[in-house]
Amino acid sequence: MNDKTKKTVLSGIQPSGHLCIGNYLGAIKNWVALQDSHNCIFLVVDLHALTVKQVPSELRNRCLSFVAQYMACGIDPERSLIVIQSHVPQHAELNWILNTLTYMGELSRMTQFKDKAGKHENNINAGLFTYPVLMAADILIYQADLVPVGHDQKQHLELARNVAQRFNTRYSETFVVPDGLIPKVGARVMSLQAPERKMSKSDENLNNLVALLDPPEVIVRKIKRAVTDSGSEIRFDEERPGIYNLLNIYASISNLSSDEIEARFAGKLYSEFKAELSDLLVEFLKPVQKRYAELMQDKSHLQTLLKSGADTARYLAQKTLTKVYRKVGFVPYPR
Ligand code: TYM
Repeated sequence: MNDKTKKTVLSGIQPSGHLCIGNYLGAIKNWVALQDSHNCIFLVVDLHALTVKQVPSELRNRCLSFVAQYMACGIDPERSLIVIQSHVPQHAELNWILNTLTYMGELSRMTQFKDKAGKHENNINAGLFTYPVLMAADILIYQADLVPVGHDQKQHLELARNVAQRFNTRYSETFVVPDGLIPKVGARVMSLQAPERKMSKSDENLNNLVALLDPPEVIVRKIKRAVTDSGSEIRFDEERPGIYNLLNIYASISNLSSDEIEARFAGKLYSEFKAELSDLLVEFLKPVQKRYAELMQDKSHLQTLLKSGADTARYLAQKTLTKVYRKVGFVPYPR
């Protein structure tokens, strides 16, 4: 993890709902690919999850389940750190400092805040508003160079860059200003029933998403029912968002180009395409689900990995925090 010749990658997912193919194609797929070339840290961001109401026992189980799902998808704890955010208190400490460098106006422009505030009208808490500052702290505390995320995190990432630059200007060069890494295909997987909205792991209507742990028959049913548009040609056409979304999912999982896919389905029916897409998803997820089941049998092994991940992460995070505390003018901890 501490190879000084390599750049640092950081990303994270909120433990809410069910990890879905949107999360895989937008983020985790890239994480897996970056593990050899970079020092990688992958977070389960449980502090962020509290911005919407959670059932405590479910949150606890879900965090562990997400860790196992990361690993089942190919995140290798020998090469990458897997860390639960609340195990590293420095995130919250840096969050405070960065809060004082972030403007209310900036935060009110965040589209995700507006969306979530609309969805949770009875719980528009301050955490929901300052959520992107904590995300900036997650990234900056590890001096991350690269942040692989889906398209919906672009605005949050821009904020993290601005806050890093602001700190550097005010207090002298301290933070790496991170770049985003958004995949060409798969950065915006849309809902199966409402393809004008993004697929969301916490959607109440489970027919909108394919979860990584969905059994084969459920996947087949969901794809069969997915909304398609009038017309019959199987073409990548943004004007027909239903079929366009399914084709993009196909492209992203198969790694085939749009031309290859269009040629393959020329003259075929939507139903034939959907059947092939279901097969592709089922075959892709089968080994992931098998590995997940094995990992969940040995929770103490997961705990050991998390302890080692947290220990290294705390060490790295403290290095940045000590520097930050010194630069802002705090009295050093007496020795
Ligand atoms: P979250 O938990 O909403 O999503 C996790 C990751 O999945 C991507 N994603 C998608 N990609 C393509 N299509 C979709 N339909 C789709 N839905 C989700 C997201 O872009 C994200 O990469 N704020 C973050 C979590 C976070 C974080 C961080 C990310 C906290 N701290 C530091 C990176 C770095 C979030 O809520 O993601």
